[in-house]
Amino acid sequence: MRANIITYGCQMNEYDSHTIKSELVAGGHDMVDHPSDANLIILNTCAVRGKPVEKVITQLGELRKERRQGRDLTIALMGCLAQLEEGQVIAKKFGVDILIGPGAITDVLDAVNEIEAGKKQYTSLEFKSHLETHITPAPNSLTGYLTIMRGCNHHCTYCIVPDTRGPEVSRPVDVIMQEAEAMKAAGIQEIYLLGQNVNSYGLEQNKLPSFAQILKMVASTGIPRVKFTTSHPMNFSSDVIDVIAETENIANFIHLPVQSGSNKILKRMAREYTREEYLKIIREIREKVEDVVISTDIIAGFPGETEADFDETLSLYEEVKYEHAYMFIYSARPGTPSYKHFEDMPRKTKTDRLGKLIERQKHWSLESNRRYEGRNVRVLIKEIGQSGEYVMGYSDQNHTVLVPAEQITKLGLYTVKINTATPHTLYGTVEGFKTETIPLLMA
Ligand code: 5AD
Ligand code: SF4
Repeated sequence: MRANIITYGCQMNEYDSHTIKSELVAGGHDMVDHPSDANLIILNTCAVRGKPVEKVITQLGELRKERRQGRDLTIALMGCLAQLEEGQVIAKKFGVDILIGPGAITDVLDAVNEIEAGKKQYTSLEFKSHLETHITPAPNSLTGYLTIMRGCNHHCTYCIVPDTRGPEVSRPVDVIMQEAEAMKAAGIQEIYLLGQNVNSYGLEQNKLPSFAQILKMVASTGIPRVKFTTSHPMNFSSDVIDVIAETENIANFIHLPVQSGSNKILKRMAREYTREEYLKIIREIREKVEDVVISTDIIAGFPGETEADFDETLSLYEEVKYEHAYMFIYSARPGTPSYKHFEDMPRKTKTDRLGKLIERQKHWSLESNRRYEGRNVRVLIKEIGQSGEYVMGYSDQNHTVLVPAEQITKLGLYTVKINTATPHTLYGTVEGFKTETIPLLMA
């Protein structure tokens, strides 16, 4: 078949899409760049908030229309939405042919073969515990995503992920190291370790190393840059902070979702830490890790959040001075405890609060970005756009950096001098090319 994957949501989904592609290609199917050239369209979905679900519904509506007009098309719904009853209802309504949850993505080839052989509908929603993949590094990419664990054992009351991705399962060390080595051999310059809670790595099986040890082992391959996401503050321990501080090629960039600055709301969210405990971790990070960039996730307008609670979140912003933040309004997701037990507040209150957070974050991001003016940073240029004045890359601490397009002739790591900063971007000029050998030159 001629397959195209449309990916929604987080980096875990990006990684899963890559696995789906590898499976299909290994099974003799072709991947095409544009959905319009495909006769198999796979939607790898996200269900964490209402918005990404609406996007999938719109897309399915379009595809149903084209099919009614005579287009020969197999439609697959995969990822988090597929796992939920909500997704199963949507799949039925739009005549989806293949429904596969995030725990069973390696069933995709069987599913496609069975549909080709005349089966009407294929569903697989089990959680496979062995996390089998036939992964090969993505071609033409300088970043390798490497899942080290899946699932989540926390039960934050707003979150649907424990239902969609199941309980935590850590992948075996030898599999992780094989993938890391294969990525290195393929010329990958940056490995991103992925998991819902990477710092819970190994906790469910006592023979496995800790997350800090895994981090060190992956860094010891000599890959120029190692990053990871996401961490839960509850088990973000000192050994992880020490490894980041001591190891040169582990990026000084930490994403540590706080969600709220109010202890009352953190308790209602079942986040399992207090504001004070969170701030203690932040202080330790700032003391030990030089030039660190800290980012977070925040939810504005969680049920029961008063103006005073929201002020606590604002004051936490002033204390932490996050370099970057992903900010959301609370979205009541069917199936979550907060949807069942708490009353949502008016949308306007939530968006007003979000607006205030965005305003403050802009201030702190600008403050922090200005510190880089006049300094040299190491930037990974992963893609060269077709047109435009600038090419975009990422610094070791995950800043978005723009450099003049005429200075970039190949992909790789560059030394860039930063000239000016805005809240979201650093603008610079190339001082030198860093990467010794890059097998993956621009396509
Ligand atoms: N509403 C709003 N934001 C949510 N997130 C997860 N569930 C919800 C929800 N129901 C946010 C959290 C999480 C990020 C991935 O998405 O901030 O850290
Ligand atoms: Fe969701 Fe909480 Fe698990 Fe993160 S830790 S995936 S927010 S339940």
